[in-house]
Amino acid sequence: MGIYNDQIVPRIVDVACGSKLNNPQRRRVCAGLQGRVLEIGFGSGLNVPFYPAAVQSISAVEPADLGWKLAAKRVAKATVPIERSGLDGRALPFDDNFFDAALSTWTMCTIPDIATALAEVRRVLVPGGTLHFVEHGLAPDSKVQLWQHRLNPIQKALAGGCHLNRDIRGLVETAGFEIRDIDVFYEDGPKFLTALTLGVAVSP
Ligand SMILES: C[S@@+](CC[C@H](N)C(=O)[O-])C[C@H]1O[C@@H](n2cnc3c(N)ncnc32)[C@H](O)[C@@H]1O
Repeated sequence: MGIYNDQIVPRIVDVACGSKLNNPQRRRVCAGLQGRVLEIGFGSGLNVPFYPAAVQSISAVEPADLGWKLAAKRVAKATVPIERSGLDGRALPFDDNFFDAALSTWTMCTIPDIATALAEVRRVLVPGGTLHFVEHGLAPDSKVQLWQHRLNPIQKALAGGCHLNRDIRGLVETAGFEIRDIDVFYEDGPKFLTALTLGVAVSP
């Protein structure tokens, strides 16, 4: 989709998502990951330092070549094998029931047809497998929501298709996952952008 999305957005994502402010959320969301793990929207590998020792391998799904390139230094330092195994969360090149866990951080906002991607994640998880997620999305307060709906078209255009107003809990539940833990809160920063949903959901 042009030079801006291919060459600029992955660099913005690397810097913006790489803020140290996000590290506590990365640590929390990665806790409990184990076995074979699928990571959708791997980006520049900002979760790599937070994978627990129980993780055996990471299959990274990431469409942006530049994101993967920016991840190289983190991938090289990783203590688990990481392979770029797919390009699109909506069409995962894996057998059913393949992964023990899946990870999505600040990614459900961006995948165009997120319902299809979540159905794919469910398909490739073993029964009882867990989806760990931290996402920005629809705020709990109606005044903030109003601004999220207003600003959404600008955000989509400037930030590689990122939506401000997706209902993360609703999307995860509609895909058939059972919520095990969930926390909805504001990080520091503008509320329309920092309403986070962090949780773990189980594939039944
Ligand atoms: C805001 S970034 C988050 C990156 C990373 N997860 C992080 O926490 O830093 C969203 C990521 O989703 C990726 N993405 C966009 N469309 C996708 C798709 N269809 N399937 C998988 N990932 C996608 C983007 O390339 C980008 O790396």
